[in-house]
Amino acid sequence: MPDACRNLLLTFGPTYEPIDAVRFIGNRSSGRLGASLADAADRRGWAVTALIGPNAAVPERSSVKIQRFRTTSDLQQLLSEHTPNADLLIMAAAVADFRPANSVDVSYKLPRSASGLVLKLEATPDLLAGLAGAKRSNQVFVGFALEDHESLTELAIRKKKRKMVDYIVANPLETMDSDVIDATIIGPTEELITPTGPRMKSEFADYLLAFLERDHRLRHNT
Ligand code: CTP
Repeated sequence: MPDACRNLLLTFGPTYEPIDAVRFIGNRSSGRLGASLADAADRRGWAVTALIGPNAAVPERSSVKIQRFRTTSDLQQLLSEHTPNADLLIMAAAVADFRPANSVDVSYKLPRSASGLVLKLEATPDLLAGLAGAKRSNQVFVGFALEDHESLTELAIRKKKRKMVDYIVANPLETMDSDVIDATIIGPTEELITPTGPRMKSEFADYLLAFLERDHRLRHNT
């Protein structure tokens, strides 16, 4: 990435989609890799803005700018504000795929007598795919994919095309909520980069950033 403009926008952690005043649809994302990426990027000289979901790990370095989201809609709003200034977007957030279809009264707690309740869900918008249209040629977008072992790379390559991102970091399902990551990176020409075996997320964070910096420099001769 060019040294003069190194703004990293990073999203991580789960989204919580409310069902009522106290309940939500969420997921087990811990945000550990995202927080490590924020710290590692800050150490490597990036100006880092981290959009962080509820109950997720937070970066240790005080120079990382932090904004919070809760729902997919919150994150969508923050992305539309911050993406235009980003040179690199790393979208590690575990965005909900579904949310309640009807508007939810968040001031009301459903009583037990509501048992037998049927929740109608709708798909959330694909935030990353939605950003592709406004992506500038000098921006680099990195998405994540969580898939089962057997079809990991095949599905991740499909996901990369669908979301029109430069790189996908593909992970087996066990990665969620673990200290360890065993990722495969899919590059711009769908080539596979397999780091050597499982690593601690903190170590992988530095590896991924060094890889992205080097790969981008090689491709663009900067
Ligand atoms: N993502 C997104 N918007 C969504 C869902 C996911 O931007 N509504 C992003 C994630 O942050 C991640 C990438 O897309 O970078 C892949 O997320 P994943 O959950 O693996 O894929 P989905 O698009 O949800 O597809 P599926 O669940 O069908 O595998």
